[in-house]
Amino acid sequence: MRLNGKIAIVTGGAQGMGRAISLRYAQEGASVVLADMNLQGAETVAEEIKGAGGKAIAVALDVRDQNQVQGMVDAAVEHFGGLDILVNNAGVGKIIPFLETTEADWNFMFDINCKGLLWCSQAAARQMIAQGRGGKIVNLASQAGRRGEALVLAYCASKACVISMNQSIALALAPHKINVNAIAPGIVDTPFWDEVDKQFAKLLNMEVGEPKRTFIQSIPLGRIEQPEDVTGAAVFLASSDADYITQQTFNVDGGNWPS
Ligand SMILES: NC(=O)c1ccc[n+]([C@@H]2O[C@H](COP(=O)([O-])OP(=O)(O)OC[C@H]3O[C@@H](n4cnc5c(N)ncnc54)[C@H](O)[C@@H]3O)[C@@H](O)[C@H]2O)c1
Repeated sequence: MRLNGKIAIVTGGAQGMGRAISLRYAQEGASVVLADMNLQGAETVAEEIKGAGGKAIAVALDVRDQNQVQGMVDAAVEHFGGLDILVNNAGVGKIIPFLETTEADWNFMFDINCKGLLWCSQAAARQMIAQGRGGKIVNLASQAGRRGEALVLAYCASKACVISMNQSIALALAPHKINVNAIAPGIVDTPFWDEVDKQFAKLLNMEVGEPKRTFIQSIPLGRIEQPEDVTGAAVFLASSDADYITQQTFNVDGGNWPS
């Protein structure tokens, strides 16, 4: 078990990649705090972990609310005695053409994907620094942060921002032996992409499901990414094997970028 005795927070742990990472972390011996706006969903995953003999709690979290963010870190300390790993996974995306992008769309994606990541990283880092035993932060970026897309301006920009923030936070926390790295997934089969598919279908005059099928065809490894596909990298980056790695963003995308 590669995370034995570690205490981890996973934001957006109720479904998709956050759920898969939480389950895997628990299998690797970590105690997991599942923090999500969808408290019921987070509780279901926590029960799943406990049912399999692992340790987990669920907390309600909107990453935009600094009080709730602090409450999430406090819960990790109260229930498990500290904090070693933060996974900034909670994120949102909308497919909106450049000319139709509104201030509300922009703020929605940047407030959750970027500002929320800042609040969570600050609160977690303060706790890790106070403990004095280092730590790991893993950020969920995206292939969308590596390039622009005509229909995806704000989301692409927010994920490019995550890649940049990943570097700055890594440099700020390096003196405290806190490693900060990111994963850039490709097209992952989660509820997120089901919604993205519907939005693409409407804009491109396609049937629902067709955008997904079309985009999958260009993935070099020949299949859609599953949430479990990111868990190996998420464990590695949270483990002592990554003690000399920081500031990096790793593509876990079946070779989809660049393509
Ligand atoms: N699915 C993909 O193809 C894909 C690709 C690249 C990157 N990503 C990124 O990976 C991460 C996870 O994606 P996913 O596909 O598993 O998403 P998902 O929509 O399936 O799950 C996201 C979770 O985050 C929670 N959440 C949303 N806003 C929140 C907030 N303000 N505060 C707390 N929790 C909140 C949701 O309730 C949900 O449980 C996101 O950051 C996403 O941008 C997704």
